Amino acid sequence: MSKLAINSQRCTRCGLCATACPLGIIRLPEGEQPRYVADGATRCIICGHCVAVCPSAAVEIEDARLDPAVYETGEAEIAPERLAAYLRMRRSVRNYLDTPVDRDTIERLLDIVRYAPTSGNSQSIRWLVIHNTGEVRRLTGLAVDWMRTVMVSDAPINAYFNFEGIIRSWDKGNDPVCRKAPHLVVAYGHRESLVAGTDAIIALAHLEIAAPSFGLGTCWAGFFQMAAARWEPLQRALDLPADHLPVHAMMLGYPLLRYQRPPKRNPLTVAWRS
Ligand SMILES: Cc1cc2nc3c(=O)[nH]c(=O)nc-3n(C[C@H](O)[C@H](O)[C@H](O)COP(=O)(O)O)c2cc1C
Ligand code: SF4
Ligand code: SF4
Repeated sequence: MSKLAINSQRCTRCGLCATACPLGIIRLPEGEQPRYVADGATRCIICGHCVAVCPSAAVEIEDARLDPAVYETGEAEIAPERLAAYLRMRRSVRNYLDTPVDRDTIERLLDIVRYAPTSGNSQSIRWLVIHNTGEVRRLTGLAVDWMRTVMVSDAPINAYFNFEGIIRSWDKGNDPVCRKAPHLVVAYGHRESLVAGTDAIIALAHLEIAAPSFGLGTCWAGFFQMAAARWEPLQRALDLPADHLPVHAMMLGYPLLRYQRPPKRNPLTVAWRS
């Protein structure tokens, strides 16, 4: 249950909070301050649009679920050219330094990712950080074990991936699965959730985009995730809370290579309907 708290000294009754509310649950009775519609307190998705839009800083949403931390607006604007340059220089990182990333840095990164959009503002994504590099290797070994069982089966997935080559490389001491990344970040959600899958992917995409600003590199751990979604020994080792499943995993660490220029991409394909 949420509370829409209005500072009557500050409120000018401009109505912007009501306009911004995605659920239309704020009304502005004649001569009165904004308030929830009858069932507003239970329907409010605590998205904070009313708080964010108010020119007079006259609204607060009070809800036990919310982190009390308040952030300054800061320098939130960025020129398109600068953003484009930043995004074009992001690369999937498959060569990592051994240098570990301290927990504080990873926590700052994940803290930013809380601001990724989530369906209905569910904010249901939870994180597991495999910080211990030895544990990343052990879990990766379990993912390779899954490949060993798939490879000798007639599973159709064998037609798409060269598991034999991956296993051979792993057995020689290489790591084509998690690229010897020092850390692995797993986004997970409730198995019954209709939205956790999409929301976790968006959150990981935010993490991937934010990471280079910390000097960090990431890569989607697709092979690892294939195993994590199917292989019970790996799921047991991940030891997620009951009824939760990994949505996707991402390698994380300091990049060994420094990329000098953006690569080429296919031309933009867009259909316009007007
Ligand atoms: C997968 C997904 C689906 C969404 N679908 C809708 C939608 O149908 N209508 C809508 O108004 N907002 C939709 N949203 C936006 C969320 O409600 C919004 O991200 C959330 O309330 C947090 O607000 P913010 O994005 O402004 O931080 C969607 C978001 C995601 C990630
Ligand atoms: S946006 Fe702020 S000032 Fe405007 S009506 Fe809402 S609370 Fe009042
Ligand atoms: S927090 Fe979001 S849903 Fe709740 S009243 Fe404000 S704008 Fe509406």
